[in-house]
Amino acid sequence: MTNFVSQTNTSPSVFGDNTDSLEDFSELYTLIRNECGIDLDESKNSLISARLQTRYRALKLNSYRSYLRYLHSTSDKTEMEELISCVTTNVTSFGRESHHFEFFESQVMPDLMSRAKRGECIRLWSAGCSNGSEPYTIACSVLETFPEVAKYDFKILATDIDKYCLQTGKTGEYPREQVEKLPSRIVDSWFIPTGNSLRVDPQLQKLVQFNSLNLLKPWPMNRKLDAVFCRNVIIYFSADGQADIFSNLAEHMKPGAHLFIGHSEKISGRSGPRFTNVDRTTYQFDVGKAARKN
Ligand SMILES: C[S@@+](CC[C@H](N)C(=O)[O-])C[C@H]1O[C@@H](n2cnc3c(N)ncnc32)[C@H](O)[C@@H]1O
Repeated sequence: MTNFVSQTNTSPSVFGDNTDSLEDFSELYTLIRNECGIDLDESKNSLISARLQTRYRALKLNSYRSYLRYLHSTSDKTEMEELISCVTTNVTSFGRESHHFEFFESQVMPDLMSRAKRGECIRLWSAGCSNGSEPYTIACSVLETFPEVAKYDFKILATDIDKYCLQTGKTGEYPREQVEKLPSRIVDSWFIPTGNSLRVDPQLQKLVQFNSLNLLKPWPMNRKLDAVFCRNVIIYFSADGQADIFSNLAEHMKPGAHLFIGHSEKISGRSGPRFTNVDRTTYQFDVGKAARKN
């Protein structure tokens, strides 16, 4: 990250009162990085200023300095959650990077299906699921290829750090633009029109379980994962933060499990070599071990 602590000039706050020094931005960014891994630098100052306006207003504060003081003085975790919600980028849509779902349906689902039928419990994870578009798209793929899935121990875990995103996911109601990338047949099959919006079919909701999870904190899964979609999340983390995520994934994935990452993300860190590239931004974990097991 660019080090700008030594600079002394000020940057205009959203109120134009010049009360925010670059040191204040830097301190806030360190706090954010330590809390959720998001690595901000000075190029984001105006964006963050604009996003924090609502927090300043709600708390009747007018500068980063006073906001920082407030964050340090309160033991209430709510404001940290609000801050994180302000700085996360939640852009997402149903069917985003559709090649992943094509690969998942044709290359991953047949094996997951037969393992589920043999009594194995199957766990998929949408890590950094935003408003639920990603896990519900996975659920569409699962139900399209495995209509009788409800008879088996097959679940999609959907987690995010942003509580507002999780609320939308749990509600399962979306504006029509959100599903534009899905084929119309899929929209007709798995969404119920409700006024101007669309509601996901209860079968999709039954498959997906939403939970709050900060990827930087310990992961509470008690079962190993069969496929992970961690897309367009670690792009916002530092290089070290990204490497830590891949090490953690290596601890939590079954040999042969698939990992889907975002189009501009790369596997890194000491666990990197354990992920074999099998398709565009698609990896298989410990393939050799999986082959020996079968
Ligand atoms: C750009 S969205 C990507 C959504 C979806 N995976 C996709 O590709 O469409 C990134 C998501 O990662 C979440 N996120 C960022 N830092 C996180 C962290 N430390 N733990 C969990 N989720 C995080 C954000 O809240 C946001 O919803």
